Amino acid sequence: MATNGSTVRLKIKRQDGPDKESYWEEFEVPYSPGMNVISALMEIQKNPVNARGEKTTPVVWESNCLEEVCGACTMVINGKTRQACSALIDKLPQPISLEPMRAFPVKRDLMVDRSRMFETLKKIRAWIDIDGTYDLGPGPRYSPAEQEWRYELSKCMTCGVCLDVCPNYGPQSEFMGPFAFGQVALFNSHPSGKLHADERLAAFMGPDGLTGCGNAQNCVKACPKGIPLTEAIAEINRQATLFSLRRFFRGR
Ligand code: FES
Repeated sequence: MATNGSTVRLKIKRQDGPDKESYWEEFEVPYSPGMNVISALMEIQKNPVNARGEKTTPVVWESNCLEEVCGACTMVINGKTRQACSALIDKLPQPISLEPMRAFPVKRDLMVDRSRMFETLKKIRAWIDIDGTYDLGPGPRYSPAEQEWRYELSKCMTCGVCLDVCPNYGPQSEFMGPFAFGQVALFNSHPSGKLHADERLAAFMGPDGLTGCGNAQNCVKACPKGIPLTEAIAEINRQATLFSLRRFFRGR
């Protein structure tokens, strides 16, 4: 039984600032049917008193869409990195432990700094350039197989789960992480995106790219959207090999 029916017990790893020591604090909040981890955190926000009855500071976290689309609420819940908005209290053994993701610097409590991911998106040119805003008529057609592949890749919400479970990602390495492969596979498969495919591949030739992947394959198991990340990594490896050969024969 996940709940005693009237309260929810939470054990939260807290940190008052980026350079502060972390500590654990327990809370007991009123239970209501259908609640998720975010609603439990909102109960603490309403009444920031810990399980010992002491007044404390409200717990800080990030969330936005509340439907597992934005990726902002990612944290480690009972040891598993996942989204708090889709973590239902009824399905979690108590006390529910909440920790910030391990792969990112902590800003405060459960809120981390994911800006390294967004910098990577810039580096790999994770967008399609447009050549104007005038009507160009219907876009290019895709085969159903291409549509399926691109749709799966397009589900990435930059949540950070694949990075948090990857043994090769973190402050100890420059590796860009699995999500970057999926994004480049997506944009390099677009008819207009192909025009900048080589620039995206060039970004993978350093120590932060292809050679950073140790093939642990944790990413594909943990991705909440079921993105075929290992297939994307294989595809980018294939494209990068061809790119290297082209560069070799062109002499640059
Ligand atoms: S709030 Fe957007 S994914 Fe959870």
